Amino acid sequence: MEIDWVELRRAATEAMQHAYAPYSNFPVGAAALVDDGRVVVGCNVENAAYGVVLCAECGVVSSLHSTGGGRLVALSCVGGDGQPLMPCGRCRQLLWEHGGPDCLVEALPEPLTVAELLPHAFGPADLAAAALAPGGSSGRGRGSADRTRVGTEHIGRADGAGRPVVAPDTAVPARLAKWRGRGTVFVHPDSAGGEVVWTGYWERSESTGEAAGSGILEEAPSWPAAESVVAWGRARTHRVVVVDAEGAVSWAGEGEPPTEVSNRWQG
Ligand code: THU
Repeated sequence: MEIDWVELRRAATEAMQHAYAPYSNFPVGAAALVDDGRVVVGCNVENAAYGVVLCAECGVVSSLHSTGGGRLVALSCVGGDGQPLMPCGRCRQLLWEHGGPDCLVEALPEPLTVAELLPHAFGPADLAAAALAPGGSSGRGRGSADRTRVGTEHIGRADGAGRPVVAPDTAVPARLAKWRGRGTVFVHPDSAGGEVVWTGYWERSESTGEAAGSGILEEAPSWPAAESVVAWGRARTHRVVVVDAEGAVSWAGEGEPPTEVSNRWQG
């Protein structure tokens, strides 16, 4: 995707002129290219209670979602002089969540990726992995440092059918980072060497109906328990649908199930 850095910087500078920064007198503007070509902007907004400040990047993220969602591809953030400004630590975390590791941030002499700005990041994949740990997310406090070990780890727990629950490696391939938060993951049983296993796929369509016409972004590995595949799915999108051996569908995603899927997955 072509990135017009000149236009992004111009939009960021324009947004900066609307900053509300009477306490710091440090106006900031930010503009980001979204994966569908939109440009979203934000400016910093301060508060008499100093700690309540909203950075310009917060405005960008709010605008991203309030104008249709998607993923941030590239961001320019400028200070009062119209020159690139590096996002603060908290905003790097926002960019990780809404742009992902490959999102570019204007820097001199050349743009940097969010992965470069926030190495060893904590993100949604850590929550998905922790939710599978014994005792759930309050369990062992699995940090980024040992995340590399979750690949095929059997976490000493079985699902309702006695199948061992494996903590999946939920990392989203960099080439698919822009799809995070979009599309639907379908989780379904399969057979491997006479054994029933669970697998799934992530597809572009946001519909929960038949996966006609493919549009498959990624196939999930196979694991003994559906729970592992659900965690893999939740690291990709909030739309996760479990299709059982009889073809019955249930909602394992976030929020209320869509009308096409009446049941909630019971795990
Ligand atoms: N600021 C931003 O808007 N974004 C950043 O990434 C760095 C800091 C704002 C917050 C505050 O209003 C002012 O700059 C001074 O810290």
